[in-house]
Amino acid sequence: MVKICCIGAGYVGGPTMAVIALKCPSIRVVVVDISAPRINAWNSDQLPIYEPGLEDVVKQCRGKNLFFSTDVEKHVREADIVFVSVNTPTKTQGLGAGKAADLTYWESAARMIADVSESDKIVVEKSTVPVKTAEAIEKILTHNSKGINFQILSNPEFLAEGTAIQDLFNPDRVLIGGRETPGGQKAVQALKDVYAHWVPEDRILATNLWSAELSKLAANAFLAQRISSVNAISALCEATGANVTQVSHAIGKDTRIGPKFLNASVGFGGSCFQKDILNLVYICECNGLHEVANYWKQVIKINDYQKNRFVNRVVSSMFNTVSGKKIAILGFAFKKDTGDTRETPAIDVCKGLLGDKAQLTIYDPQVTEDQIRRDLAMRKFDWDHPTHLQPLSPTATKEVSVCWDAYEAAKDAHAICILTEWDEFKSLDYQKIYNAMRKPAFVFDGRNIVDVEKLREIGFIVYSIGKPLDPWLKDMPAVA
Ligand code: NAD
Ligand code: UDX
Repeated sequence: MVKICCIGAGYVGGPTMAVIALKCPSIRVVVVDISAPRINAWNSDQLPIYEPGLEDVVKQCRGKNLFFSTDVEKHVREADIVFVSVNTPTKTQGLGAGKAADLTYWESAARMIADVSESDKIVVEKSTVPVKTAEAIEKILTHNSKGINFQILSNPEFLAEGTAIQDLFNPDRVLIGGRETPGGQKAVQALKDVYAHWVPEDRILATNLWSAELSKLAANAFLAQRISSVNAISALCEATGANVTQVSHAIGKDTRIGPKFLNASVGFGGSCFQKDILNLVYICECNGLHEVANYWKQVIKINDYQKNRFVNRVVSSMFNTVSGKKIAILGFAFKKDTGDTRETPAIDVCKGLLGDKAQLTIYDPQVTEDQIRRDLAMRKFDWDHPTHLQPLSPTATKEVSVCWDAYEAAKDAHAICILTEWDEFKSLDYQKIYNAMRKPAFVFDGRNIVDVEKLREIGFIVYSIGKPLDPWLKDMPAVA
């Protein structure tokens, strides 16, 4: 029986390994983590992450061929294939701070693998890492190997949160990078054999190590670039009276462009896009490619511009001050169908409004009050360090209250800001909400999910990203 061990029981390690276990009953999969609370949660009825379909997959194989454990060394020692899916945050200090990947967790995992191994192993990079990390890891492993053979593969993960299980069941492609040596190719084949249990052969792509590593960063940069492109156009739509939804639709009909990832929004969030682009920028700079670095930097600048523009729009519409005004924030997660708040645009929008002394009532169906308070208190880039290492000191800001219901959040509010596209926000009783709000009542839709005309009929002043402006807003221009 092939034995797989995955180091890191997070958003990637957990779901990925659960699906491998489900699809490969002949493989024994153990997911290990240094965080005991996380492992305990994986072993309980309350999984540590919310992901549609995940619970069902875990329940089918947990205790049969899928296990979660804190005994990292034992399971690494016993494994034939070790996946490494630990955090790769942006460095907060020292050389490359604010851009380069911090490989502390990766390196400590690699050193531990070298220390405890007693048999040959395939070590798979699942984390997103800078190009040539495999080479560095290879050096750590081979210099400490006691004669053991390690083959390093790069197998970046392309799942998106909220659709992780679907993405894993039916991936567009699986990418496996390996050394072009007989040993390297044998390892590539061994990993191909795992995926071949359910992924059609023509979707399993084999490349060299560096191409696999770079493809992951490039794919995320391309996806984020599409969002920044449509968000840039959304600003122009507001200035000219065009409708960004119509423009996106028209652009997306061109088969060379395609319709996906063209939804204008308050900005992209999530643990990957910004981090991976910063990483790409840093690699370009290290290679003297400053024009290329600046090109990609612009994707992040437009994203920051979009978040600022949204805050400015809220403040300027409400007579240039939100001081003491109650603003209901609907949605805090970085996208729907996840409780993940890493780099969510809601953090920057809330901080912007709090900076103007607003009183916020926040509601998200999947994010806890503790998480919201911690996020609002956290320094930039601190979020991607293992949670048990993070200072757990959520500040009890009296300007923020967290509700468990959209209606409660909106009661007596001057405005509503929709920051996550949860389906339930589409079908709220907006008449009931309007009746309970202060007047004039504003809706600022950062996800383009409300029926603008219907809400205007009720009496709301509505701003929806990239849509023709309400006459009220035209008179109160926002300067980003
Ligand atoms: P995560 O923070 O959810 O999980 C990482 C886990 O690794 C944590 O539970 C942490 O405790 C554990 N860990 C850290 N160091 C360890 C060590 N030395 N030994 C054992 N456990 C250790 O992160 P994630 O979202 O799963 O991301 C993991 C990697 O995958 C990152 O490189 C990320 O960029 C990449 N990635 C993430 C996504 C996504 O959607 N979240 C998608 C594709 C790729
Ligand atoms: C992303 C990549 O899609 C995935 O392949 C990679 O493995 C990890 O990073 P994820 O961050 O989980 O996945 O979600 P994604 O669906 O890509 O959304 C990222 C952000 O972009 C979200 O904040 C989302 O709301 C925003 N977005 C997405 C838009 O604003 N407009 C769009 O059209 C699409």
